[in-house]
Amino acid sequence: MTNPIDHLLHENRRFAPPEQFAADAVATADLYARAADPEVFWAERARETIDWRTPFTEVLDWSNPPFARWFADGELNVAYNCLDRHVDAGHGDRVALLWEGEPGDERRITYAELTDEVKRVANVLIGFGVEPGDRVAVYLPMIPEAVAAMLAVARVGAVHSVVFGGFSADSLRARIDDAGAKVVITADGGYRKGKVSPLKPAVDAALADRGGQGPQASVERVLVVRRGGNDVEWMPERDVWWHDVVPAASGDHEAPAFEAEHPLFVLYTSGTTGRPKGILHTSGGYLTQSAYTHRAVFDLHPESDVYWCTADVGWITGHTYVVYGPLANGATQVLYEGTPDSPHPGRWWEIIEKYGVTSFYTAPTAIRSFMKIGRTVPQSFDLSSLRVLGSVGEPINPEAWMWYREVIGGGTAPIVDTWWQTETGAIMISALPGVTETKPGSAQVPMPGISVDVVDEQGQHVGNDAGGLLVATKPWPSMLRGIWGDPERFVETYWEKFAAQGYYFAGDGARRDEDGDIWLLGRVDDVMNVSGHRLSTAEIESALVAHEATAEAAVVGAADETTGQAVVAFVVLKQSYLDRHSPDGLAKDLRVWVGDQIGPIARPRDVYIVGELPKTRSGKIMRRLLRDVAEGREVGDTTTLADAAVMNVISAQVR
Ligand code: WTA
Repeated sequence: MTNPIDHLLHENRRFAPPEQFAADAVATADLYARAADPEVFWAERARETIDWRTPFTEVLDWSNPPFARWFADGELNVAYNCLDRHVDAGHGDRVALLWEGEPGDERRITYAELTDEVKRVANVLIGFGVEPGDRVAVYLPMIPEAVAAMLAVARVGAVHSVVFGGFSADSLRARIDDAGAKVVITADGGYRKGKVSPLKPAVDAALADRGGQGPQASVERVLVVRRGGNDVEWMPERDVWWHDVVPAASGDHEAPAFEAEHPLFVLYTSGTTGRPKGILHTSGGYLTQSAYTHRAVFDLHPESDVYWCTADVGWITGHTYVVYGPLANGATQVLYEGTPDSPHPGRWWEIIEKYGVTSFYTAPTAIRSFMKIGRTVPQSFDLSSLRVLGSVGEPINPEAWMWYREVIGGGTAPIVDTWWQTETGAIMISALPGVTETKPGSAQVPMPGISVDVVDEQGQHVGNDAGGLLVATKPWPSMLRGIWGDPERFVETYWEKFAAQGYYFAGDGARRDEDGDIWLLGRVDDVMNVSGHRLSTAEIESALVAHEATAEAAVVGAADETTGQAVVAFVVLKQSYLDRHSPDGLAKDLRVWVGDQIGPIARPRDVYIVGELPKTRSGKIMRRLLRDVAEGREVGDTTTLADAAVMNVISAQVR
């Protein structure tokens, strides 16, 4: 039997939680034993994290796999759980959102104020004829109205489909059509990189007359927030200004109860390949796992912490760890509209200093881009309030992890590397910051109550010190319930590969080390086959980033006459290195370096030094396009790229 992925890299560093942190930790080591029966465990979590209007008596119904039902006879209102109940408990004056606009304007919004706003928006939606189960598209910048809009949709039992504000009119149209949205909530524009980036014009284009190409859009109303101040066209019978109707609407709204399996949202994954899928999540199970993991993984002490997750609400991380998890837990959090480097490269660190952020959650791609600029920028701010740091979205290379720990976390704050997906809804694999001895680069252990494994192609457990495919072996509360309108694709994509075992296939490669800790190795589709050795992208990229010259790296397998595939690397250099050295001869040094670090088999055939890497709008590297360059082909579909021009530059640099 072949090992699906070979393992090459070794990591010996270990960091125990600071003593005081462990003593005050929300999540303690006994949780693992208490989760011995996951259904009992999750039922307890569901009772402790949610106010149920009708208590549930059933926990998991897995009678029709892979269509799970959790807490199905219970009833709740998700928005009530994120808002009113905190006000009822006497926390109405607690700040929910510390909002910072890109130009530097700010708003502080308490739980009482946010509850009031959401009730008004709910009444506006009802006035538009929105009924439970109807879909509402949300296409907004990172402003408080985005949070209020999502919660108002949830409050009336409708289903939101948030579309990231950086998507084009065509992408928006495809998502509106697929979900059959009745209302769109948008803004005139929002601030990005120092200027107003228009949104309403994209909505107009998405809803424009199709000239006989396909059906007319389902949209009846467009609710528009004024943010950018840019000129917009107006269709008076369809378009409504938020500021005209929301303040005028009634602030009375009783949150109705919905079944636990009532749909909460659809979120389209664009992914690095393939047609977008509308991932469907429901209410009770999703909220349970979101709130619980948020509390446990970020060690949330809601009365004293200031939490900040940098993800946009257009991504799952923004849904679960900006909106539902933190607000269900009554957290105080920062919400920032703009880009990390506007108007200056220290913008994020300035915000941390200004608000005294204690818990910070971001992506490796951001960390590596800060490594590229250099540590003097963060070091000119006071980051001493930080006590826990999170990472999500891609494997974090050990060197990026160490940089994060030392430069941002002051050498003490525990780092939680959290593995999960749009499909899993909430965190599945992560250290517990007050319990786990952390290892740079490893996501480590499944959350209490979660069952995952690393298996071979036949679905057999691979054991320690071996690579394979990551699967979830048991259903979990926040799991996706399907793909909107396409149950067959749901079964085929995630459940067919290990149908015999009934496992969920995540599409990621992974490895267990000698301690049984889990390391993520990248998407299985990106695995390279060099002379019969199956090499993961993550390990070779980590070796490249461990070199003093390198800030970011991407490797791909390119067709090769002798070895089948050969490793081709693309690297971005650190500014601090370029200030002191010429990059001449560096490509050769890096080849040798990788050979020394992990072995000759992993040594790249070619190393290209480039200015930037191609990334999706959520910051994931698009290796598929680099493979086209490496094999000398014309570059394929670039529509999901954040910056389409990047590929022209890379192609030119490689030539
Ligand atoms: C990758 C983001 C390594 C992985 C929440 C997964 C990670 C995909 C990690 C899902 C991590 C996410 N370490 N890889 N900590 N977290 N990934 O749907 O390939 O945007 O399958 O959800 O990101 O991306 P998505």
